[in-house]
Amino acid sequence: MLSPNSDQSNALPTHVAIIMDGNGRWAKKRFMPRLEGHRQGAKSVRRAVEFCRKNGVKFLTLYAFSTENWQRPESEVSGLMKLLSQFIDSEIDEIHKNDIRFNIVGETKQLPAFVKNKIERALAKTSENQTMVLTVALSYGGRQEIISAALKVHQALLSGCLKKEDINERVFSSYLNTVDLPDPDLLIRTGGEIRISNFLLWQLAYTELYFTDVLWPDFDENSFWQAIEEFRSRQRRYGKISEQIQSKS
Ligand code: IPE
Ligand code: IPE
Ligand code: MG
Repeated sequence: MLSPNSDQSNALPTHVAIIMDGNGRWAKKRFMPRLEGHRQGAKSVRRAVEFCRKNGVKFLTLYAFSTENWQRPESEVSGLMKLLSQFIDSEIDEIHKNDIRFNIVGETKQLPAFVKNKIERALAKTSENQTMVLTVALSYGGRQEIISAALKVHQALLSGCLKKEDINERVFSSYLNTVDLPDPDLLIRTGGEIRISNFLLWQLAYTELYFTDVLWPDFDENSFWQAIEEFRSRQRRYGKISEQIQSKS
């Protein structure tokens, strides 16, 4: 078993993406309203950002609200929007102080104005920061993102900015919301479900997937290390055979 301080040849992931699931069940187990689970979940977000900053994970992407989550009861949706706005208020100074760039992916047009305003200010304030990128996927859906990229490519072809023969994976990626992010190395899903739920469908092509039963509000530094240790124990082959990878290293 690896430990956080052991000398490992396998590198840490550069980009970790997390599907933060299980807030509702965390609350239900305690006979609390679901929103209390989301409130506790915000504390785990703080811990995860701190973990990445301390350990040199340069990109952290958090799935906070999917396009499908708009279908939840109105009271939960509005509670989540308020929490999000409070989270930005309470954390943005610390984020900025730590030289972290705040970033958003998703259909932000649909968000209420008070959330959009907070987001815009947070993006502007932290835009020059270099140490780490914290991306929040908000009103995000992987399929919608791919459709929107395809439409942008279509527009670029029509206007002559892009030639058909120049389209390849790298060029197509540049039309996605995640244009300035590398693909995730590690995806963590908490809460016990073994599915992707429309997250980063294009970008996860060769990401290592890690699923844990730990509910998001309980996901602490130790749980994060377990995911990292599992990641470091894997061999990423990208379609090649083991020997080709070993001879390279
Ligand atoms: C994840 O927790 C947070 C969001 C989707 C906003 P859930 O709210 O899905 O929690 P469970 O899955 O019901 O426990
Ligand atoms: C995925 O969780 C979305 C987020 C964590 C933001 P859900 O709880 O919405 O996913 P499903 O419905 O169980 O697939
Ligand atoms: Mg859920």
